[in-house]
Amino acid sequence: NGCQASLPTKHMETPEMADLDWENLGFTLVDTDFMYMAKCGPDGNFSKGEMLPFGPIALSPSAGVLNYGQGLFEGLKAYRKTDGSILLFRPEENARRMVIGADRMCMPAPTVEQFMDAVKQTVLANKRWVPPTGKGSLYIRPLLIGSGAILGVAPAPEFTFVIYVSPVGNYFKEGLAPIKLIIEDNFHRAAPGGTGGVKTIGNYASVLKAQRTAKEKGYSDVLYLDAVHNKYLEEASASNIFVVKGNTISTPAIEGTILPGITRKSIIEVAESKGYKVEERPVSVDELLVADEVFCTGTAVVVSPVGSITYQGKRVDYEGNHGVGVVSQQLYASLTGLQMGLLEDRMGWTVQL
Ligand code: COI
Repeated sequence: NGCQASLPTKHMETPEMADLDWENLGFTLVDTDFMYMAKCGPDGNFSKGEMLPFGPIALSPSAGVLNYGQGLFEGLKAYRKTDGSILLFRPEENARRMVIGADRMCMPAPTVEQFMDAVKQTVLANKRWVPPTGKGSLYIRPLLIGSGAILGVAPAPEFTFVIYVSPVGNYFKEGLAPIKLIIEDNFHRAAPGGTGGVKTIGNYASVLKAQRTAKEKGYSDVLYLDAVHNKYLEEASASNIFVVKGNTISTPAIEGTILPGITRKSIIEVAESKGYKVEERPVSVDELLVADEVFCTGTAVVVSPVGSITYQGKRVDYEGNHGVGVVSQQLYASLTGLQMGLLEDRMGWTVQL
């Protein structure tokens, strides 16, 4: 294939760093050089993938993903260390989560080995887009879609695994400043038995309306309650939620309706290693009223402190967060220190490229 053959030459010709304003990265797409693509028929075996120039992909208007939402995505990040080398954070976790999500969505998944290899290849081919240490990261977006044409409701006859990347900075426009959340009790993100626990694309389309209304009113994001009791915290549009009271940190348990975040899982371990008591259980909305601190976690949002939460017209402010709450700050520093290779990785979470 011509693209593969041209890859090394292109590398040699390209300058070490892309020409970008590294000081002002947000969470918006920056087109990079290459994307990875592999295909799979009904037999479930993916082709050997290839690197292609980043750009549009051809799909039948009748593709399963376009008509019935048969699609899944992942999100992970690559950081540049101060010595210039690149670190991935827990990529096998994303590979495993894709296998579980693909099963729920009736899709074959790439093996953990193929996923890892594809992620590494894509990052290395786009190395010049990994921001300098401290300026952001390279966001890696693996996609698994039902790309084959299908008319009746059924799994597509062909699947495509794509990975593209984009340099990113902070997810929220507030940067590292505390965000303002509003609790939504008319819309729900997911219901028991549904797909809330996997990273299917439709989970994100379904939150757009509530999110838009919230943003129009000046909120940063929406926090959802469970669909059965309308009482227990679920998650925000693209992140998990944690509530701090004294030395105890609570977060909704993974019971099928919320996404098992890799940052969520990492923060639980980091917090426990620092002596906090972490509880995974149903967390009621009333607990927010008496909390010391609240924060959100996710690959994209990292650890985002919450400054206020509005529920049924009443607003609770987290005073400690006018700066940034001490627990949020401590966990943010520990997590990003590991991700950027500034702290010793005793957990073996990072993969050096
Ligand atoms: C991530 O944190 O990687 C996510 O998947 C959130 C994304 C929807 C922006």
